[in-house]
Amino acid sequence: MQVQLARTIKLLRESVTALKSDGGTLALVPTMGALHEGHLALVARAKEEADHVAASIFVNPAQFGEGEDFDAYPRTEERDRELLEAAGCDLLWAPSPSEVYPDGYATTVSVTGVSEGLCGGARPGHFDGVATVVAKLFNQVAPDVALFGEKDYQQLAVIRRMVRDLDFDIRIVGVPTVREADGLALSSRNRYLSEEERAAAVALPDAMGEAAEAIAGGADVGATLIDAKAKLFEAGFSTVDYIELRDAETLEPMAMLEGPARMLAAARIGTTRLIDNIAVLPR
Ligand code: PAJ
Repeated sequence: MQVQLARTIKLLRESVTALKSDGGTLALVPTMGALHEGHLALVARAKEEADHVAASIFVNPAQFGEGEDFDAYPRTEERDRELLEAAGCDLLWAPSPSEVYPDGYATTVSVTGVSEGLCGGARPGHFDGVATVVAKLFNQVAPDVALFGEKDYQQLAVIRRMVRDLDFDIRIVGVPTVREADGLALSSRNRYLSEEERAAAVALPDAMGEAAEAIAGGADVGATLIDAKAKLFEAGFSTVDYIELRDAETLEPMAMLEGPARMLAAARIGTTRLIDNIAVLPR
C-alpha cells in the first residue's frame, strides 16, 4: 500500500480518522528525516506494536540552537518517503514550519530534572524544543503508542517524563541503537563526516565500550572516564562535551557503579557532533 502524505493538520486528522476507522491501533514514529536503518528499525518495531503506523518528518527549528546545523540538516524527503513505503508505513506527516508554529505561536513545554546536564547542558533550550514538538505531534496524530530510539537516551527519558507528567495516554517504546558493522551508531549527521573523520569516529563506541567494561569490572569511574576522554582526543576528536556515567532510570550522576547505569557521551570530530550511550551493568 502507498504511504499517504499529509502536510496540513486538517488532512492529517482526516487521514488518521480513516486509518483508525477499522478499530485498529496507531503507532507514531517521530523523525527529522534523512532516514537510515535506525529510523527503519523504529518503523519495523512500530508494526509489531500497532495495527497502523504513522511517521513524521519535521526538522524542528525549536530544538536547534543559534549556530547549530538547522539550515545544513539533510533534507531527503523523496527518498525518505520511498523508504517508509517499503517499510510498510501507512501515513507520513510532513508539515511545514508555519503549519506547526503559526504566527503568534507562544507555548513551550519544558521538562526539568532529566533534561538538565548532558545534552541539555551542552545545548541550552534543546529539550524544550524537543518536548514542545513531541507534545504537539502527540496531539496532532493522537497515536496509541510512540517509538523512540535509545540512541537519544536523554531524549527518551525526557519524553517518558513528559508523558507521565502531562497524562498523555500514549505508550512509549524505546528501541535499541542500530550500529554500523564497526560499532558507530547510525545517525543522520554521520553524512557530514569526511572519509578520514568517519574512520576516526569509531573511537567513540570503542572508547565507551572499553570504559564500560572496565567500570563493570570494578575500575574507578572518574579515572576511567578521564582515560576514555583522552582516547577520544588521541583519535582526533576536537572537543568532548561530556562523557558521564548516570543512573539508567533517573539519569542522576553516578560516582560509583551501584546499579544499572548508562554511559553517555557527546564529542565533536571536525565540525560534526556525535552522541552515543551504552548500558553499564554491575557484575
Ligand atoms: P531524529 O534524530 O530524526 O531521530 C528520530 C528517531 O530515531 C529518534 O527516536 C532517535 O532516537 C531514533 N534514532 C536515531 N538514530 C538511531 C539509531 N542509530 N538506532 C535507533 N534509533 C535511532 O530525535 C529526533 O529526530 C527528534 O529529536 C524528534 C524526536 C523527531 C523531535 O523533533
